[in-house]
Amino acid sequence: MKIDVRKFNLSDAEIPRQWYNIAADMPNPMQPPLNPATGKPATAEDLAPVFPMNLIEQEMSTEQYIDIPDKVLEKLLIYRPTPLKRAYALEQYLKTPAKIYYKDESVSPAGSHKPNTAIAQAYYNKEFGIKRLTTETGAGQWGSALSFSCALFGLECKVYMVRVSYDQKPYRRLMMQTWGGKCIPSPSQETNFGRKMLAEDPNCPGSLGIAISEAIEDAVTSKDTRYSLGSVLNHVMLHQTIIGLEALKQFAQINDYPDVVVGCVGGGSNFAGISFPFLRDKIYGKQVKVIAAEPTACPTLTRGPFAYDFGDTAATTPLLPMYTLGHNFMPPTIHAGGLRYHGASPLVSQLVRDKLIEARSYDQLTTYEAGILFARTEGQIPAPETCHAIAAAIEEAKLAKEEGIEKTILFNYSGHGLLDLTGYSKYLEGDLTDFTLPEEEIKRAIAAISDLPRI
Ligand SMILES: Cc1ncc(COP(=O)(O)O)c(C=O)c1O
Repeated sequence: MKIDVRKFNLSDAEIPRQWYNIAADMPNPMQPPLNPATGKPATAEDLAPVFPMNLIEQEMSTEQYIDIPDKVLEKLLIYRPTPLKRAYALEQYLKTPAKIYYKDESVSPAGSHKPNTAIAQAYYNKEFGIKRLTTETGAGQWGSALSFSCALFGLECKVYMVRVSYDQKPYRRLMMQTWGGKCIPSPSQETNFGRKMLAEDPNCPGSLGIAISEAIEDAVTSKDTRYSLGSVLNHVMLHQTIIGLEALKQFAQINDYPDVVVGCVGGGSNFAGISFPFLRDKIYGKQVKVIAAEPTACPTLTRGPFAYDFGDTAATTPLLPMYTLGHNFMPPTIHAGGLRYHGASPLVSQLVRDKLIEARSYDQLTTYEAGILFARTEGQIPAPETCHAIAAAIEEAKLAKEEGIEKTILFNYSGHGLLDLTGYSKYLEGDLTDFTLPEEEIKRAIAAISDLPRI
């Protein structure tokens, strides 16, 4: 039989040794984050109670490539390089002339792309003398990735998990506990902000913004503790670029190059990871379409204004220049918990604004339909977040068929859905609905940030 090669692997020795920093190449640099008290650009000292200085330096760096420390590489090699896979069965089902490839980030021990930055952040905190990290988690992917990474470097880990996800996903909590992390539902009774939210609404389902506020409060009020964020910030985007850098090498080995690159966007980290190395080529003249896929229920990039806003609901972070629905925005409780965030990475936002990235939104039912089709053709069950990327890739493959063009499509398979089967169960039983936000709700959420500095 003729073998159609489906998996394109790099050897361990071929793992990239540097991360790529898109801040060095952006046609319009990102606007600076602002200190809300002074209205002036935030300084390293402003961030120091929350993050260790070595990560703050990365956050502010405009160096094009940054060396990956050996101790980080050693841990990344537990599951990297990840395979690039060709989705032949999906192509055949769709009868598309397009070639569909995906970068399989679900092979990490935590099941998603999140350990790529969790390992790096645990390392830099350890180097800085920090003993304990706090964080938030939506779907539970980030909390499990950080618990795993803290275990590798001998750090304590405390995770505030958005309440709806905590109730829907007990196994994620058990994963965190197995790696030694402590996980509690947010809003919680353990912080001032959590207690305030619960006093206002004892049934508050939580949101990423609230959980971030609790984790930051814990970090700045506890000894030898810093906060760790799984998305949004520049250093997180930087660490994730190893995904796209590996993909570039894999495509070079098979003499191909994507016409379309797709990722789903919550805070923007897996999307940045797969796309920034290709966007570098685009900035220097290469033709490549880059698509960011988000939920219609939380349409930050497609319907939010580009504005300064807080990264968290309690308004404790610096003001970030980004597409936002307002830090008080409470997204509907869709199953893609990791995409329920009011803002988006400032780097991704600036690139959307400069039209280097095209943002699209997808309904919940469309994304589950895409995920089920992927599972029934390729076999792997995707995370509900990842289903957004698959929906966009399928849309592009159908377009290629209409146009009769043999395109190469690459999407990021950001995580598996084996611990997200409740959502699949609801979909299969016909209990899931679409939820498109009414315009008035968006106007109301945005009105809440009208007194913040304008861009
Ligand atoms: C599997 C998966 N994909 C995507 C996301 C969205 O986050 P980001 O936009 O930072 O990649 C999450 C977040 O929890 C996730 O778990």
